[in-house]
Amino acid sequence: MKVGFVQLNIKFGDKERNVKEALKLMRNVDAGLLVLPELFNTGYTLTSKEEALKLAEEIPHGKTTKELIDYSIEKGMYIVAGLIEREEGKIFNSAVVTGPEGYIGKYRKSHLFYYEKKWFEPGDTGFQIFHLKNLKVKVGVIICFDWIFPEASRSLALKGAEIICHPANLVLPYAQKAMLTRAIENKVFIITSNRVGREKRGIFDFKFTGMSQVTSPRMKVLVRASQEREEVRTVDINVEEARNKKITEMNDLLKDRRPELYLDLTKRET
Ligand code: ACM
Repeated sequence: MKVGFVQLNIKFGDKERNVKEALKLMRNVDAGLLVLPELFNTGYTLTSKEEALKLAEEIPHGKTTKELIDYSIEKGMYIVAGLIEREEGKIFNSAVVTGPEGYIGKYRKSHLFYYEKKWFEPGDTGFQIFHLKNLKVKVGVIICFDWIFPEASRSLALKGAEIICHPANLVLPYAQKAMLTRAIENKVFIITSNRVGREKRGIFDFKFTGMSQVTSPRMKVLVRASQEREEVRTVDINVEEARNKKITEMNDLLKDRRPELYLDLTKRET
């Protein structure tokens, strides 16, 4: 199975251009599953809630989701892509999952980063599994800063995710390295799709770190993009690797857990 990412530079607010550019880059790519960055159609650096509302779309009835559905059907490909979602005046930092069967589902970012807390509602979808039927694979989605909470990836692994799709707009220098640990501690593949470029808007000046990557359950970076160029990269994976949770013949990553010792993890107080 071929999976990969679309590493983009994005023109803030120009949804028509950004969607066109992403689909153009994907045109001659042979892959079963491609992951696009967080907020791939709008850009990241919002300066007000009003601006976010103007750029937001409904899922699945908004224009961008429809374009992704059409493209997925035409190419027989699964796509995971981030966009601003509007639902009755509330807005979420969401990702949509589309495939040859059409709309599959959405995930709303659980852990909001920095000023995102001013624009978005915290996600309420929880950590869900999406069955990609044609590929016979189970995927989960986290968005960017969700990576720093190991509970997010762990929840997905416990529910059976074999691949974690990770649309991102990374500005801190940690995640690409940290995902190696997320991959081995859950024995899953992780596709991190980051963006490149810089956005100076309002009080913000964000430089995005690129280096999108596919990480294996054995902690290998199978493919990694540059820090500054738009790139589509794919790699062949054997999903069986993510189904075997054995670390040694006497250790199973999930069965050896001691949940009775982890009760503090579900309490809010620290
Ligand atoms: C981020 O969560 N976009 C850093």
